[in-house]
Amino acid sequence: MFLRFGICLILFIFLNQHVTASYKSYDGYKILEVPFKHKIAKRYVQNIDKHFGFMPDFLGENWKKEEAHFFIEKDQVAKVGDALKFSNISFNLRDVDSKMFTFSRKRRDLANSPISITDINTRYLSYDEQIQFLNNLASQFPNLVKLQNLGNSYEGRPITAVRLGDDGTNKPIVWIDAGIHAREWISYNAALYFIWTILNDPNYRQLLQNVQVNVVPNTNPDGYEYSRTTERMWRKTRSRFTSSKCAGTDGNRNYPFFWGNEGVSHSTCSEIYCGTRAASEPEVLALTNAIMREERRIKAYVSLHSYGQEILYPWGHTKNSHPSDVQDLIRVGKMMATAIQNLHGTQYNVMNSGDGLYPAAGASDDWAKSRGIKYSFTMELSPSDDYTGFILPEDRIFQVNRETFQALTTLVRVVSQEF
Ligand code: ARG
Ligand code: ZN
Repeated sequence: MFLRFGICLILFIFLNQHVTASYKSYDGYKILEVPFKHKIAKRYVQNIDKHFGFMPDFLGENWKKEEAHFFIEKDQVAKVGDALKFSNISFNLRDVDSKMFTFSRKRRDLANSPISITDINTRYLSYDEQIQFLNNLASQFPNLVKLQNLGNSYEGRPITAVRLGDDGTNKPIVWIDAGIHAREWISYNAALYFIWTILNDPNYRQLLQNVQVNVVPNTNPDGYEYSRTTERMWRKTRSRFTSSKCAGTDGNRNYPFFWGNEGVSHSTCSEIYCGTRAASEPEVLALTNAIMREERRIKAYVSLHSYGQEILYPWGHTKNSHPSDVQDLIRVGKMMATAIQNLHGTQYNVMNSGDGLYPAAGASDDWAKSRGIKYSFTMELSPSDDYTGFILPEDRIFQVNRETFQALTTLVRVVSQEF
């Protein structure tokens, strides 16, 4: 009795304190901004690895200012500055606010109510909380929600697909997944918000009569937990192959379409390491298998990322290569961007993913398109024109959730009308 009380008391104290995880410190790191409007600068940025002697971590871009952002490690800062000056390229090295990279959050106590939509709109959840949220929705909406385990991550966490409106018929499917890149936290919340809102708002729920939507809100749970607890800027999976120096593969370079080609690295320590072979990652294997099982019914595919405020369409594995129905992709991409803009005026740029700064082979959008899925997009969510990057403050989650919902339901509506 007393023992039990004691354990409860300790648990209570533990769960109520502010927990500040001990993170990797990013003191001395810099964000490198390079404007690429001019031809010479653009060519420089596109070959930046050759100029620097290593590939810096590409963060994203501000397409309004035509400026690329890279994350520069402390010991590379001097070298990078020298290289840029030598070539007469204008640039800015911005200090990182290392406070932003330490995540202090209040743990919920066990007696607290279940995870609610308010949580989804105001804070970043743990993987376990995400699963708890999905389980609750599944029991609340037994006829509209089926949870499916697509397989386990490298560290053994189930990759859960939420099948919305699966009634055993052959309706067209829209596939949405999020967070293959661990540090892009807003993508997880945006996916969960979509699931909750399409179920709870009767105006949108009726879309599920004609279309099934499969959402995988966390495609990289190992990476996400690692980013939450250890290294905020972690991007990759957490796999490690025997004798490899560094852990992790870029899941979005691991898909089996032009795998290992342009815009990838074969060195394990790189942020864009493409893995030992196509679909070497259990996460990617689970996703490709699941999509292939239903590919004839899947009419649209969206992968949620951040940041940049972009709607990207294939092909992205190389430059100057467009699918024959590219005009359809542009038309629907623009409809999605307009739906976002109509909400608060936020602008998204609809563009080809290979013609921008970097082609990248082995990405999921290209692979989905290659499987015959007509509308395939990668969405880079907010921000774009400020410097919080992946560290989107919690008070901005709600707006991004709502904007993403508008874009995704626009796509669902297109599919319900065209198929
Ligand atoms: N930021 C994403 C990445 O680097 C963009 C991928 C776009 N698609 C593509 N096929 N290049 O993975
Ligand atoms: Zn990404």
